[in-house]
Amino acid sequence: MNNILIINGPNLNLLGNREKDFYGDTTLERIKSICEEQCKKNDFECHFFQSNHEGEMIEKIHLANKNYEGLIINPAAYTHTSIAILDALRATSKPKIEVHLSNIYAREDYRRKSITSEAVNGVICGFGENGYVLAIDAMNKLIYNKK
Ligand code: DQA
Repeated sequence: MNNILIINGPNLNLLGNREKDFYGDTTLERIKSICEEQCKKNDFECHFFQSNHEGEMIEKIHLANKNYEGLIINPAAYTHTSIAILDALRATSKPKIEVHLSNIYAREDYRRKSITSEAVNGVICGFGENGYVLAIDAMNKLIYNKK
């Protein structure tokens, strides 16, 4: 079974209480269980991780080359600032998908630029928790090279 790593960045542990206008009522726990369910449907083993620390996220990304077949990442605010996360993503040759709950292109100017997206196969944003479901299905196609 293919191992899929799903990394969530800073403040996503606060979903449910945080800026509901942008992120709705969903919680990280709920997103985790949605991901587990969708991974099961795709025959993936789901490894779900959240950290508020850039270095911890980078160390997890480093593991992607060895231990996982695909990486889905919501780098949260680091999307817009972190060349270190970009470099870590560049260093992994596995398929990578960036996800955002909100449509970052319809928000403040400083959110409209994703530094990290340069290193991923594609970006899904603006679909709320469903973005993770779409990303897992897209990952299946990337891994099995389906059209
Ligand atoms: C986010 C968008 C980022 O701009 C923000 O800093 C987040 C969440 C999203 O999922 O919509 O923390 O990545």
